[in-house]
Amino acid sequence: MGAAPIHNVADARKRARKVLPRVVYDYVDGGAEDEVTVAENEQAFRELAFRPRMAVAMGEPDLATTVLGTSVSLPVLLAPAGLIRLLHPDGAAGAGRAANGRGTIWVLSTVAGVSLEAVADAGGHRWFQLYAPGGRDDAAATMDRAEAAGYEALVVTVDTPALGNRERDVRNGIAPPLRLDARTAVTLGPQVLARPRWALRMMRDGVSMLGRPKTRRSGPAGGAPTPAHADRDSGFGAAGTVSMLASPFTWEDIAWMRTRWTRPLVVKGVLSAGDARLAVDAGADAVIVSNHGGRQLDGAPATARVLPEVVDAVGAHAEVLVDGGVRRGGDVIKALALGARAVLVGRPYLYGLAAAGQRGVEEILDALRAEMVRDMRLLGCPSLAALDASWVERR
Ligand SMILES: Cc1cc2nc3c(=O)[nH]c(=O)nc-3n(C[C@H](O)[C@H](O)[C@H](O)COP(=O)(O)O)c2cc1C
Repeated sequence: MGAAPIHNVADARKRARKVLPRVVYDYVDGGAEDEVTVAENEQAFRELAFRPRMAVAMGEPDLATTVLGTSVSLPVLLAPAGLIRLLHPDGAAGAGRAANGRGTIWVLSTVAGVSLEAVADAGGHRWFQLYAPGGRDDAAATMDRAEAAGYEALVVTVDTPALGNRERDVRNGIAPPLRLDARTAVTLGPQVLARPRWALRMMRDGVSMLGRPKTRRSGPAGGAPTPAHADRDSGFGAAGTVSMLASPFTWEDIAWMRTRWTRPLVVKGVLSAGDARLAVDAGADAVIVSNHGGRQLDGAPATARVLPEVVDAVGAHAEVLVDGGVRRGGDVIKALALGARAVLVGRPYLYGLAAAGQRGVEEILDALRAEMVRDMRLLGCPSLAALDASWVERR
């Protein structure tokens, strides 16, 4: 008998907590420092109240739209996530297949834990999220590979000039930078043993957390060796060694990328009208209002609060997407009412993946869709196109 279906994101979170070793659950669930921004992201959606219209004649609301010219069956994309293979052997490919099956776009992280070529055949509409700690040469090489492997848009994350201070990871002994290897495995052993099913699945998949430590290559310009540099391809080094890295970009770098990358260019991590304008001036076709799910600068503003000013500033010239704190279909509707073209979700689908692999991601997308359809009917709003600021008010 299969596991019971996942009814909503909170369900999936509980299930993820049960199946993952604490260190992995904390890596996904946690944020920077006091996690004020993590909480604020969700709170900002809660503080938006709907203004429903009653007794409206309407059929089944259509959730289809386009994002940068690509048709999607619902305005929810899968956000890029590092080290995603630690959650379930289905990993990024499973998430990609789920997105494809449900008619939406998935975004592969540079540090997903798998090479971009290896998961390209998950198919569907896929974008690639770029980190390039090795500078422009590094960026150019990765962009060429992403283009050759058929990724349809490049997402450049600009909020990671340094790694956020994720204290759950620090407490668990794997940061900074996030690192799982033979040394950390000694302290993490008991946690891993407490989740034998996860450990078994991972061992079968060859992601042993008890593998050899990786030999470090030298860092940029012959500098000190950095794990970041060694693992930049995928986030995974030799068996069991994974790490995350800082990746500073400037607006000049974005403009330079624009000259090399011919497909749509998306800047992720914008939190103000001014930066949104700089991104669009540098050639971005879309911006993602994002604070990295509260994992970078704690105290950064909730995305639902700054979304309107970004839409005002650049909405006429670029598509505006948003992520952070979307946990219900109603949150998606609120984001669209404030002018977003679509949202991305991070933790929601990662919890689903941890709980049930590809099927768990599908169930999360289905749950968000069902919630959206019901809420649109309850709102009396017949279509996504009809959504605007008149449907919500700040409490
Ligand atoms: C476990 C995890 C790993 C992430 N890794 C990346 C990454 O490699 N690159 C990136 O641009 N954003 C990364 N993010 C941020 C997400 O893309 C997204 O901005 C964020 O999760 C949205 O917030 P939410 O989790 O509340 O939906 C990561 C988020 C999580 C939870």
